[in-house]
Amino acid sequence: MVQHVRGLVAPGRDEPVRMETVVVPDPGPGEAVVAVQACGVCHTDLHYKQGAINDEFPFLLGHEAAGVVEAVGEGVTEVAADDFVILNWRAVCGRCRACARGRPWYCFDTHNAAQPMTLTDGTVLSPALGVGAFVEKTLVAAGQCTKVDPAAAPAAAGLLGCGVMAGLGAALNTGQVGRGDSVAVIGCGGVGDAAIAGARLAGAARIIAVDIDPRKLTTARAMGATHTVDSSAQDPVAAVRELTGGFGADVVIEAVGRPETYEQAFYSRDLAGTVVLVGVPTPEMTLRLPLLDVFGRGGALKSSWYGDCLPSRDFPMLIDLYRQGRLDLDAFVSETIALGDGELEKAFGRMEAGEVLRSVVVL
Ligand SMILES: NC(=O)c1ccc[n+]([C@@H]2O[C@H](COP(=O)([O-])OP(=O)(O)OC[C@H]3O[C@@H](n4cnc5c(N)ncnc54)[C@H](O)[C@@H]3O)[C@@H](O)[C@H]2O)c1
Ligand SMILES: [Zn+2]
Ligand SMILES: [Zn+2]
Repeated sequence: MVQHVRGLVAPGRDEPVRMETVVVPDPGPGEAVVAVQACGVCHTDLHYKQGAINDEFPFLLGHEAAGVVEAVGEGVTEVAADDFVILNWRAVCGRCRACARGRPWYCFDTHNAAQPMTLTDGTVLSPALGVGAFVEKTLVAAGQCTKVDPAAAPAAAGLLGCGVMAGLGAALNTGQVGRGDSVAVIGCGGVGDAAIAGARLAGAARIIAVDIDPRKLTTARAMGATHTVDSSAQDPVAAVRELTGGFGADVVIEAVGRPETYEQAFYSRDLAGTVVLVGVPTPEMTLRLPLLDVFGRGGALKSSWYGDCLPSRDFPMLIDLYRQGRLDLDAFVSETIALGDGELEKAFGRMEAGEVLRSVVVL
């Protein structure tokens, strides 16, 4: 059996997104079909559409989603029909060398559905980040579904599926921000703001938001920044040092993904402090730093993929904090939009213009 549903497909490099009929097979062994309730619009979806990730068109876009499990295949025990779940792109394998060493948040062999979703003519779709969720129903590996409190609003919950988790985890997991720490966050979009929210949750005493767009600094304050630096008007390294007694911050999180902002992060950090790179660079970017400074300043230079999250550990906990009013996930939802090609294209435009933290498609 198969189902025919509506979904948003990127047909080819830089071609407009199209609404298509998507054929979703019944779940096979280890798989689940999820009725999507909400899916956030992430930069990565735009990168797929532009052909910046790979050439495996057509893509079924969307990957920051929450929904309800409709059916599960043979052998699935972790979720069942009617469970409210957040989808993830880290379904840990339990067997690779990272998992075997007890570090499943680095899992090198995460899995996706084995069966493909297709167009009606049989063309196989490549789901964005192995999810594909701008669609009424999607087929995923059961391990990509994490059950959470069904009282959470789907539009907010789904954001933990990618960017917001990446930012929260950059502070909480990778950066290991501690009570009383000073933290600087460079780049205050959805990911940087989530890093600010994460630093606040961890008990950071001073949280310095840095951005070149003053609008972003206003939002960053609402997320928990105690100080802001407009780096289009002042030197961010000098400003962060001044705000930290002349020393630099204990943890600096780079959420832009550019060499110049990485260099700012490197020099805004106190001796023996930590830099976390969560922004994603492009292939042509290179970094030049005096090796003596890398040595002499000590500490840790880390990168953070998906906030080093373990969905089964982190999603239910963060949803509980959200339900208790300690983590304002709703604040990341700038607008909700319908599932439609024109709507998604307009949302991409607003994202590129820096007008939104997240547009969320609600079904
Ligand atoms: N590591 C991961 O797992 C992961 C997951 C999701 C997204 N990301 C990456 O995180 C980054 C941020 O994502 P986002 O959704 O917040 O994007 P965004 O475009 O919403 O935010 C980027 C912010 O950086 C600011 N900025 C741009 N240039 C700057 C500069 N020179 N100095 C200071 N600020 C500057 C912009 O004004 C904007 O506020 C992207 O590179 C994205 O690909 C990483
Ligand atoms: Zn693994
Ligand atoms: Zn994403």
